[in-house]
Amino acid sequence: MIRTPVAPATPAAIAHAAGLLRAGRLVAFPTETVYGLGGDATDERAVAAIFAAKDRPHFNPLIVHVPDLAAAEFLAVFDERAHAAAARFWPGPLSLVLPRRATSGLSLLASAGLMTVALRAPAHPVAQALLRAAARPIAAPSANRSGRISATAAAHVVEELDGHAALVLDAGPCPVGVESTVVDLTDEVPVLLRPGGVPVEELNAVLGPIAMPAVGLQPTGSSRGGPVRSPGMLASHYAPSLPLRLNARAARPGEALLAFGGAVPPGFRAVLWLSRSGDLAEATANLFAMLRRLDRPEFTGIAVMPIPEERLGRAINDRLRRAAAPRPG
Ligand code: TXA
Ligand code: MG
Repeated sequence: MIRTPVAPATPAAIAHAAGLLRAGRLVAFPTETVYGLGGDATDERAVAAIFAAKDRPHFNPLIVHVPDLAAAEFLAVFDERAHAAAARFWPGPLSLVLPRRATSGLSLLASAGLMTVALRAPAHPVAQALLRAAARPIAAPSANRSGRISATAAAHVVEELDGHAALVLDAGPCPVGVESTVVDLTDEVPVLLRPGGVPVEELNAVLGPIAMPAVGLQPTGSSRGGPVRSPGMLASHYAPSLPLRLNARAARPGEALLAFGGAVPPGFRAVLWLSRSGDLAEATANLFAMLRRLDRPEFTGIAVMPIPEERLGRAINDRLRRAAAPRPG
């Protein structure tokens, strides 16, 4: 397997990366949330290569990235609510699930055969420059193997997917640190499919009440007979190798601790602070990198102190609950 080169995201490297995308190759690039594994969303073979690289099940659709609302409107139908959400939160960490236009030209595989598409305009300047230079919609799931912790640094992308991308654009750590919020606007009531970088409290201000089936764990797979509405809701996801224990208030033998706030219980083999001051944005930015750093065989498990179930804390707790959930087979 040919190793994947990592290049600082200079204008020349971004132009090169755009050429690779236009030629049907895969490029990993930074967004403000996590690194994405990008491919031309209108190229069925590029999209198939993304699924293969991640070993991702074909029923789990990808988010399609565009620079702005104007580009998005070629791909999907925006109603008043979708316009309001895009006007308020784009570019930014929000993905909107909308009815896909028959004329979109998007790969069917990218949407896993659904009549909808998830669209996002990322704010990161490197992602913006790359999308404008590539001048086509880019499908980009998080740049990790399926079911594993998302990559928030170029080195994590190499750990996860070395040899599967033609290039990794490196712009340092991702400032938000958790994936975009996914909201489905195809029904009358908006549905939160994944809590993420835009707190649901801020979405409520624009969209009104939002159904939240993603809060608490959904059964793995489609045990109720219907299709999986957002496969990101599968219970076990974002998993480190070590067992994870939530709401820890005391140490168990051999455990490492992810701490939140100043008062740390004694007896842990190692401690990393998500945030000493109890700042949710700082904790979110640290979450995936710190889970990776503690995921070592010298520890018996990773314990996490309680995180408040509000604003970005909802996204943190969502990822932690999935990481702690029983793993399939
Ligand atoms: O922050 C992010 O969203 C990152 C960066 C790279 O943009 N991307 C990302 O993609 O997290 P991915 O593929 O790891 O997660 C996409 C989520 C999944 O939960 C998927 O099921 C859901 O979005 N999704 C995508 N298309 C959908 C659709 N048409 N209907 C419902 N859910 C959809
Ligand atoms: Mg992902």
